[in-house]
Amino acid sequence: MNAISIGEGFGRVNLIGEHLDYNGGHVMPLQIKNSIICEISKNKNTDYISIVSDKYKDSFIVKKLEKRHDWTDFIIGSCLFFEQKFKVKVTNISINIKSSLPLGIGLSSSAAITVSTIKSLVKYFQRVISNKELIDLAYDIENNFVGVGGGIMDQFVSVLGNQNEALFLNTANRNYELIPIFKDYKFVIIDSNTQRILSDSNFNQKKELCYSAAKNMNVENLCVKSKIGEHDIQSLSDDELGVSKHVIEENIRVVKAAQFLKSNGAEEFGKLMTESHMSLSKYYKVSTLELDKLVDLANSFGALGSKLTGAGFGGAIVTLVKKELVEELKKYILDNYPNAKFI
Ligand code: GLA
Repeated sequence: MNAISIGEGFGRVNLIGEHLDYNGGHVMPLQIKNSIICEISKNKNTDYISIVSDKYKDSFIVKKLEKRHDWTDFIIGSCLFFEQKFKVKVTNISINIKSSLPLGIGLSSSAAITVSTIKSLVKYFQRVISNKELIDLAYDIENNFVGVGGGIMDQFVSVLGNQNEALFLNTANRNYELIPIFKDYKFVIIDSNTQRILSDSNFNQKKELCYSAAKNMNVENLCVKSKIGEHDIQSLSDDELGVSKHVIEENIRVVKAAQFLKSNGAEEFGKLMTESHMSLSKYYKVSTLELDKLVDLANSFGALGSKLTGAGFGGAIVTLVKKELVEELKKYILDNYPNAKFI
């Protein structure tokens, strides 16, 4: 057992390919420098786990590895699933969580906290885990313990991504490619600073719509299709049609975006980002007035393109802008949207 062990899990910004990772589509996240750090040390005189966090200014005593229905579920789930996988009793430890990653704004803090906790447990108990196992375990914890049912994108980029290359991932077969980001342009993340509304239930509702649309069109998942035919339209409700349109067209956009990233086509890439946002707003219906406003502001300033990032329902946008204009952009945004925060 190690005296103290540290695990780090990075957040991400999704450049394009939103709500595709549970529909068998392509996504293109980029790991960001903001992370969550989990520090584990021995807690000699106790038979429980204590959790402390600078971020939440909170501390907890956990005697049983059961859900508490708050942010500690990611940690408790990690301890429980780690026990089961490695046949070891996880107890008598202090877990200290430090974070430079804003929570709940679409930058994948859930995957970051889970990945950092597993990494730290692996070191503390001196076990070995492959990247693939780490991704699968983190996914399993989020979906089957915590119960938020996203796809594999966030865990994947937290473990296998880096901050200079976007991860172009086909979630259907997990083939991926790392593509260097533009040299002269920067992806700027702007937080709308609004509380995300009912995101779990909204998220699950969208997911269900996608699954029922795929079922009605007799396909395994929506990304098997490249367009919606006349016959399909008749089998779908209006809501199912909306989500299907977004998912199928977004999948095509991501593949194009990967080509533009490789060929240094920043302008075309930016246009695809804005198309993605429009579709998320109009068809997938996960944008908010504030996110739409930030996208409009950034684009009217002269960004090449902008979109919401992550699940939506509030949170942050990502915009592509010439490196030398970044400071000017920030000033322009703050003049017109004083609550904005830059990550
Ligand atoms: C959340 C989920 C991801 C993905 C995005 C939307 O962040 O955790 O798996 O589905 O929403 O693209």
